[in-house]
Amino acid sequence: MNRRQSLRTESATIDEEFAAAVLAGLSAAPKRLPCRYFYDARGSELFEEITELEEYYPTRTELAILREHAGELAERAPPGAVLVEFGSGSSRKTEVLLDAMPNLGAYVAIDVSASALGGARRRLEACYPRLRVITRTGDFRMPLDLPVELADAPRLGFFPGSTIGNLTREEAVRLMGDMRRTLGAGARLVIGADLLKDEARLLRAYDDAKGVTAAFNLNLLARINRELGADFDLAGFAHEAYFDAGQSRIEMRLVSLRGQEAHVLGRRFAFAPQERIHTEYSHKYTVEDFQALARRAGWSRVAVWRDAELLFSVHELIAP
Ligand code: AVJ
Repeated sequence: MNRRQSLRTESATIDEEFAAAVLAGLSAAPKRLPCRYFYDARGSELFEEITELEEYYPTRTELAILREHAGELAERAPPGAVLVEFGSGSSRKTEVLLDAMPNLGAYVAIDVSASALGGARRRLEACYPRLRVITRTGDFRMPLDLPVELADAPRLGFFPGSTIGNLTREEAVRLMGDMRRTLGAGARLVIGADLLKDEARLLRAYDDAKGVTAAFNLNLLARINRELGADFDLAGFAHEAYFDAGQSRIEMRLVSLRGQEAHVLGRRFAFAPQERIHTEYSHKYTVEDFQALARRAGWSRVAVWRDAELLFSVHELIAP
């Protein structure tokens, strides 16, 4: 991240932004930790494993929807267009679009995980030798500064995976508004949103039998221990997935299994038995609900696709 500052201590380099976010989150009531920090190298690996779980339907369902409609999307993407992916991770879904759009001016991948970006770049450069790949490490809210020769190319935003679901509704409107301004007038945005469905199915997707999601959630404490020299006892916390029907969202938490303390950067944090650290929201939308948010962010509907089981939705939007 461009603006990220590092502080060199005697023994290690501390990511100050991460440190500040952890200290602030653990000082709040209820305690919380921002989900964007799940994705260190290990967390990104665990997330890839989640996407292959039988219980975790979003990834494969969205991929099938994209495969089915990539041709239609490509027909509306002019030659020389720049494909901009927000939170690209492994860029696996992107290949469906890249295969359908051989004349792109460039592919711009933005992600917080430098290791995921590096892997994606190597794979894409091998598979698509004619494609110009541009990677940006950081939060996807930052402004796009593209090389001058790409400044006037039409833009197609891509925000798959229902990553938008991590945000509250207000935050989602703000982010989609930022994306509209970043991409510019006339741009399109292809965005995936997980659909509201029965609670049991949702809970299974966020609390799988093999415990991969639990490991993903707990890895956040392991990362804090490793990078901030903290002393969380990982065996003292358990993964929990909860569905809040009123807010239409899954909430992931880490539950303290007993009264305990943890120390982070010289600060002491006390946990009561059963006290929760909130780690992630994953909002679930109906098509109408999601379209209303997109409209508030200044986007107009071009098309909406769902799978036959109505598990997941992909929306193609245009900035007037
Ligand atoms: C990557 C944010 C879409 O909310 O489903 C998966 C992350 N968390 N299992 C989601 C996640 C637990 C995922 N997103």
